[in-house]
Amino acid sequence: HYNLKGKDFLQLSDFSSEEILYLLETAQELKTLQKQGTPHPFLSGKVLGMIFEKSSTRTRVSFEVGMLQLGGHAIFLSTKDIQLGRGESISDTAKVLSRYVDGLMIRTFSHESVEEFANYATVPVINGLTDLQHPTQVLADLLTILEHKGKLAGLKLCYIGDGNNNMAHSLIEGAVKVGMDISVASPVGYMPNEIIVANAKKAAKGTAVTITNDPVEAIKGADVVVTDVWTSMGQEEETAKRLKDFQSFQVNEELCKQAKNDYIFLHCLPAHRGEEVTSKIIDGPHSVVFDEAENRLHAQKAILKILLAK
Ligand code: CP
Ligand code: NVA
Repeated sequence: HYNLKGKDFLQLSDFSSEEILYLLETAQELKTLQKQGTPHPFLSGKVLGMIFEKSSTRTRVSFEVGMLQLGGHAIFLSTKDIQLGRGESISDTAKVLSRYVDGLMIRTFSHESVEEFANYATVPVINGLTDLQHPTQVLADLLTILEHKGKLAGLKLCYIGDGNNNMAHSLIEGAVKVGMDISVASPVGYMPNEIIVANAKKAAKGTAVTITNDPVEAIKGADVVVTDVWTSMGQEEETAKRLKDFQSFQVNEELCKQAKNDYIFLHCLPAHRGEEVTSKIIDGPHSVVFDEAENRLHAQKAILKILLAK
C-alpha cells in the first residue's frame, strides 16, 4: 500500500508521516526477527554499492551487515580508489554502477552531488550523509525514541549545538513528520538552514518548531536531548574558532536540569567528551547512545527492504 519501491532516500521531507511510521514499523519487525535468530533473506542476491568520500564507522558497518542479514551483499567503494576520485563524472559513475548493483548508498560533502547521482542512477540512491542531511541516522534516532518512550507524537525534542549541520536539519524534518515539538538552540552564525526551517514549519501539523540562541529556553521540558559535534567532517580548519563560539552550548548536568526528569540523551557519534557533551551525560543514566547506534542497523534494513524490494 505504500509505493516506496524504487524510490530514493535523500531526505526525510520527501516522505509522508505515514511512510516514516511504516519504515519504523518495518524496522521493529526486522529487529525482532534478528533478535530471535530467524533468517530474513528478503534481498537474496541483491547488491548495494556504497560510495564513501568521508570516514565512517557506523554507517559503513551497519549497511554492510544489514545487506548480509537480508541475504544480499554490499560493496565498499572509497572515492580514493574508484575513478570518481580521479575526476570521472557523477553521471557516468551513476549510470555504470546502476548496471551492476540494485541500490547505491553515498556519503559525500555536497548534497547536490547526491541529488545529481540520484538523477542519473536507475536504482534507488540512499543518502549516507551529506553536509546538509543525515536522514538514515535520524530514522534510527526516531526508532530509539519510540522504543524508550513508547510513542513519538506529543514529545518534545531539543537539539543543542550546530544548527547548520546535517543532524540538526534531518532532526527538524523528522520531528515534524512524527508530531514532535522541536527546539534548536545554536550560537549566532550557526543557525539552521532557513529554507529547511520554513518548510518544516509548513509541514508541521500543529507542533512547534522553535529556533533560538538560548539553550536554557530550548531544553525546558524536553523529553529528548540531542547534540552533535561542533566541528563536522570537512570543517576541521575552523575547529579553534568553533570551540570558542560553542562554549556556552555544552550539554552538561547543569543544563539538563531543565529537561524532564526522565529525558533521554541521544548523540549520533562520534562524540567529543568535554566539548559538546560531558562524560557525566553521555556515559550517564539518561544516555541511550549505544541503542541509537545499534538502531542504525535495524532502521537501514527497513529502508533497504522497502526500497530494494523484489
Ligand atoms: N553516526 C554516524 O553516521 O557515524 P559514522 O560516521 O561512524 O558512520
Ligand atoms: N555532523 C557530523 C555527523 C557525523 C556522523 C559530521 O558531519 O561530521
